[in-house]
Amino acid sequence: MDILPLGPGFAAELRGVTLADVAGDAAVYAAVRAAFEQHSVIVLRDQVVTDEAQIAFSRRFGPLEVTPAATQGAGTNLVILTTIGKDGNVVPADDRLALRNRANQLWHADSTFKATPALASVLSGRVMPAQGGETEYVSTRLAWERLRPARQKQIENLFAWHDYAHSRGKIAANIVGASERAALPPQCWRMMWKNPVNGRSALYIASHAYAIEGMEQSEAQKLIAELTEAATAPGWRYQHIWRNGDVVMWDNRATLHRGRPWPAHEARTMVRTTISATDADGLQGVRPPARQAAE
Ligand code: OGA
Ligand code: MN
Repeated sequence: MDILPLGPGFAAELRGVTLADVAGDAAVYAAVRAAFEQHSVIVLRDQVVTDEAQIAFSRRFGPLEVTPAATQGAGTNLVILTTIGKDGNVVPADDRLALRNRANQLWHADSTFKATPALASVLSGRVMPAQGGETEYVSTRLAWERLRPARQKQIENLFAWHDYAHSRGKIAANIVGASERAALPPQCWRMMWKNPVNGRSALYIASHAYAIEGMEQSEAQKLIAELTEAATAPGWRYQHIWRNGDVVMWDNRATLHRGRPWPAHEARTMVRTTISATDADGLQGVRPPARQAAE
């Protein structure tokens, strides 16, 4: 396996490895896992991508999320992100499917609003627009390392509240239905996630973060905005331009990502599998003290 660096200090393409190799061979998995821990975003190109192959690859890394009722792919391990409607045509720009893509265009990490956050996401491009529709990444580990030591000291003991309805509300009011809202109560996580393999810390924030425990609301929102802006500054991004056969896996503990727009009349279909974090991934370290969790 060859490792080719892609981004500014993170992200790498892995050559000479397939989805099936990772699924079927413990030594290949170990090498890919090590590359994932180190580079935060890994890219496999020219893959023969099927739903089954993507699931078998992803499952190696940990337990997979099951897609909730209101999302395409419900009840399976696949999230289907598409702008193709039931009738086979591209949906209008104000359709729920299109709005969902717009919400993905805010800088975020996946599943920070869930009771069990995500270790990683695996995304494959199935139908790509002729232009646009890239996915951009930044390293929140490098963003952490750029913070002044006094700032790091402050933030490592802060806990942010994450809410799906908050990030969706930035796109359209009431985009999240009452049952979805009830199924996804806000979650609170430490704003720093330490990787247990290499000991490196990352800033843990997202478009879903709306408040900081014990901090006045306007001050908290200012801090979240300031940290997001610094983390995502131009020059620190890796932009993935999708080709058929691409599979990109990212570490939700150590990166933020966002989708880029594309012409509304063009179809785009992506399929995601999402791997839940476990204690082995440092999950315990981001849990708030019991006192706060009880609120
Ligand atoms: C995702 C996501 C962005 C994109 O699948 O989690 O944010 O470019 N996707 O589709
Ligand atoms: Mn996402």
